[in-house]
Amino acid sequence: MAGDSRDRDVFDYLVPELEKRDLAFLHIGIFDDAMEFDYLGGRASSYVRSIYSKTLVGVGSFTAETGSKAISDDKFDLLAIGRPFIANPDYVERVCDGKELVEYSDEMLTSLI
Ligand SMILES: Cc1cc2nc3c(=O)[nH]c(=O)nc-3n(C[C@H](O)[C@H](O)[C@H](O)COP(=O)(O)O)c2cc1C
Repeated sequence: MAGDSRDRDVFDYLVPELEKRDLAFLHIGIFDDAMEFDYLGGRASSYVRSIYSKTLVGVGSFTAETGSKAISDDKFDLLAIGRPFIANPDYVERVCDGKELVEYSDEMLTSLI
C-alpha cells in the first residue's frame, strides 16, 4: 500500500491503544525499513519505537548483521527475517556457518502454495 500522510493520525491513535493491551509483541510490516517518511519524522520503526515502549519486532530488508546491529543500537527488540528465510529454509544454519545465501525471488512463493 502506498504511504499516506493521514497514516500518522491513525498510528498516533492506534499504537498507544495497542500499548494498553497485553500483546506478546508488535511487528512492523515494511519491505525496506531504510525508507523514510516525512510525516513520521524518519523510519517507521523509529517512529513506532518512540511511542511504543513494549516488545517491538523490526523487519524490512535486514541481514543477520544489520539486524543484529539494529538490536544492539536498541532500534527494536527482536528481528523478523522474511524473504531470505523463504529462499533459505536453513537460514540460521547458513548464517551461523558463514555459508552463502540463495537470493530470494517471487517465483519461490509458488512452491509454498
Ligand atoms: C509472501 C509474503 C507475505 C507477507 N505477508 C505479510 C503479512 O501478512 N503481514 C505483514 O505484516 N507483513 C507481511 N509481509 C511482509 C513481511 O512482514 C516483511 O515486512 C517483508 O517481507 C520485509 O522483510 P524481509 O526483507 O525480511 O522479507 C509479507 C511478505 C512476503 C514476502
